[in-house]
Amino acid sequence: MEALDALLNRVSIPRLEAPAPSAEQREILFQAALRAPDHGQLRPWRFLTVEGERREQLGEVLAEAVALKGGEANPAALDKARAMPLRAPLVVVVIARLQEHPKVPKHEQLQAAACAAHGILLAAYAQGIGAVWRTGELGYTEHVAKALGLGEGEELIAFLYLGTPMKATRVPEPLPTADFVQAW
Ligand SMILES: Cc1cc2nc3c(=O)[nH]c(=O)nc-3n(C[C@H](O)[C@H](O)[C@H](O)COP(=O)(O)O)c2cc1C
Repeated sequence: MEALDALLNRVSIPRLEAPAPSAEQREILFQAALRAPDHGQLRPWRFLTVEGERREQLGEVLAEAVALKGGEANPAALDKARAMPLRAPLVVVVIARLQEHPKVPKHEQLQAAACAAHGILLAAYAQGIGAVWRTGELGYTEHVAKALGLGEGEELIAFLYLGTPMKATRVPEPLPTADFVQAW
């Protein structure tokens, strides 16, 4: 696939099924992530893959996070959280690793990690793999961070859902460039 095709036409694909990306495809996904622009070459990211039965365990963790919030912890909300990771055969957790640095503020490190996540989405699209970035508010909770083993200075920034598209991929309508670009 041409690079510009992926850049211009990537879309989120929410309906995903098995098979998950192969080992060769994953290597390309993560290599693309590692080419993100990265001030100071800090590599301020790491990734966790969650698949198979581990997705059910992640669902349990998400349900616990709902329960800990109190208020809306009704059975339907718990079931919904439990089912979330089952929406794709592979979930990639993107974790930003933020450190104090004399020249690279933490927000730049966070942006670099987000670019890495975008690299995965683009490389997925280019390989015909369906992908969608769905973090959700539970992903930002302390409970989920602890269960996934995040350490000091680490922040979960994405749950990327990846798999085989269940439907034909839509072609996005381009937005008008002039709405977003002005000469200064
Ligand atoms: C940081 C971030 C978090 C997101 N979290 C969610 C989410 O939790 N649920 C969701 O439906 N979409 C979420 N999205 C948006 C989708 O990934 C997607 O980009 C959006 O639905 C637009 O579709 P498109 O990518 O095909 O243009 C998130 C996007 C970003 C950048």
